[in-house]
Amino acid sequence: MISNDAASLATQYDTTDRLSTRASVWRDTPDGRSPRRAAFAAVVAAAPSDYLEIGCGTGEFVAEVSEALPQARTVATDRSETMALATARRGVLTQVALADDLPFADASFDVVYAGWMLYHVPDVDAALAEVRRVLRPGGTFVAATNGDRHLADLLTEAGGTRLLTGFSSENGEQQLAPHFGDIAREDFDTRAHFTDHAAAQAYLATFSPELADGLPPFEGEREYVGASTVFVARLPRA
Ligand SMILES: C[S@@+](CC[C@H](N)C(=O)[O-])C[C@H]1O[C@@H](n2cnc3c(N)ncnc32)[C@H](O)[C@@H]1O
Repeated sequence: MISNDAASLATQYDTTDRLSTRASVWRDTPDGRSPRRAAFAAVVAAAPSDYLEIGCGTGEFVAEVSEALPQARTVATDRSETMALATARRGVLTQVALADDLPFADASFDVVYAGWMLYHVPDVDAALAEVRRVLRPGGTFVAATNGDRHLADLLTEAGGTRLLTGFSSENGEQQLAPHFGDIAREDFDTRAHFTDHAAAQAYLATFSPELADGLPPFEGEREYVGASTVFVARLPRA
């Protein structure tokens, strides 16, 4: 029901609305942590002179990085022209590019960030090889993604299935290992908060109308558990 082919990805990201609807429902873990804040902290702690974000979406994260690191050269890419344009409008240098074919010279960035996008990439290994190529020795790759349990209850209640993806909490480390020596991870049990049934349906509709229609009615607010991971992988110094 949720498809990852090129045509469905193009539709999914041909406006910024669906992504903004999805981002708006997330709440911190019960102990007050957030994968987005952890990814941001990892990027800022690495203090890059040259920062690249791939699959930048609406550009909110990269714009915050630019503000936090005003001395850094900040570049963003996305496969969607709409997303690239939305990001460029925030004043960030942005290019339309696929993650597995980055239009940059070898060793041109200190930090690369991929937030919730590698699970869309058909050839994750090729994308990771590209990230490694454009990173300098000692460079840092930060990747955020979801786990197999992510919103599993919501999806199954709506008649769908769990989302098993090509870059997840479960398989991410194994895929990073051939490219990066030193890999750390932090896992998060997040919460998707819906003010009512219509809000949950609106969220599901960003993936598929069938899922939205399939969600049995409920009264009042509801939370569903999400599962995310932030990986921080470093290249050895030369
Ligand atoms: C779930 S959104 C995440 C956006 C943003 N990183 C965030 O965390 O809000 C995934 C983004 O990856 C982009 N994308 C999907 N496949 C891609 C690919 N092969 N190369 C580059 N970008 C891609 C989509 O267009 C979309 O903007």
